[in-house]
Amino acid sequence: MLATACPVSVAPMMDWTDRHCRYFLRQVAPPVRLYTEMITTAALLHGDRERLLACHPSEHPLAMQLGGSEPRELARCAGFAAQAGYNEVNLNVGCPSDRVQSGRFGACLMLEPDRVADCVRAMREVVSIPVTVKCRTGVDERDSYSALVAFVAALAEAGVERVIVHARKAWLQGLSPKQNRQVPPLQYARVYRLKRDFPALKVEINGGIGTVAAVAEHLQQVDGVMLGRAAYHDPWLLVTALGSLMQPAPALPRTRHEVVQAMLVYVEQELQRGTRLHQITRHMHGLFQGRPGARAWRRYLSEQAHRGGAGPEVLEGALGRVPEPG
Ligand SMILES: Cc1cc2nc3c(=O)[nH]c(=O)nc-3n(C[C@H](O)[C@H](O)[C@H](O)COP(=O)(O)O)c2cc1C
Repeated sequence: MLATACPVSVAPMMDWTDRHCRYFLRQVAPPVRLYTEMITTAALLHGDRERLLACHPSEHPLAMQLGGSEPRELARCAGFAAQAGYNEVNLNVGCPSDRVQSGRFGACLMLEPDRVADCVRAMREVVSIPVTVKCRTGVDERDSYSALVAFVAALAEAGVERVIVHARKAWLQGLSPKQNRQVPPLQYARVYRLKRDFPALKVEINGGIGTVAAVAEHLQQVDGVMLGRAAYHDPWLLVTALGSLMQPAPALPRTRHEVVQAMLVYVEQELQRGTRLHQITRHMHGLFQGRPGARAWRRYLSEQAHRGGAGPEVLEGALGRVPEPG
């Protein structure tokens, strides 16, 4: 199946990978696996569930990332996700924010392998779609390789389908979430070793990966690569990576202009539903990254898309500032 065949995914990113962003990324890279922003079990159980679960059919293959630590609540939420057509449920064991810690989930769950294993088991009892976990290499002083092995062994025993490892530890105190994505050093070798020690488990690597060459290199060692910031800021990286790494080569857009044309149709539909143009175009600023006209494209979008009544003509206007592909 496509969902498992594609070795590249785009990371869950709060406030970034919303449904408009995912629709856009899907136009750019049809086979890539996409993740929602983290959605907490509390929000799904007590909030506007319909809105939180809503996604466009063409966003698939799509994983819902859940934040929570109560097996029964997670199982209910996994059930909602499966019913809504999601292709995977992913548990967040990597986020170090204070808000998440006060709910006792996210990265601090790395200190409770048995609980995470119970969560995986409970979700697997309810759904037949893959249940996966995204974690760090460790937290605080609990950052030895043996602690990581114990954590992953508990998940493997519980039947986790895939483990995505952000290849750096998290400091639970003293660093902001942003610093926790930059300051602790990357430890790719640990993730490679994990794959060697758990050959039957799918292991995906994440953190600081931003070139096609790096993606190719990691894929020599692990089953998948998850791209976060690099894919957001330069989405065409996905096209180049998939075009050169997948055999047979998948159907991909030929030009960035083609992607914009596809987005025009979506924009029309969304504006009719009350979406504001900039809610969509803010995710498209990086489309021409590194190409002639990239700056003019970004600038036009950020200046014009906020204006009241802004419509598809803004996207066309921005495109007019970028030279046609040869
Ligand atoms: C703006 C932003 C929001 C993020 N939100 C989440 C989230 O909701 N869940 C999660 O597991 N990780 C989240 N992350 C972390 C990313 O998924 C990823 O692990 C991290 O950015 C490292 O990968 P990269 O170096 O390729 O960006 C977020 C990262 C960014 C930049």
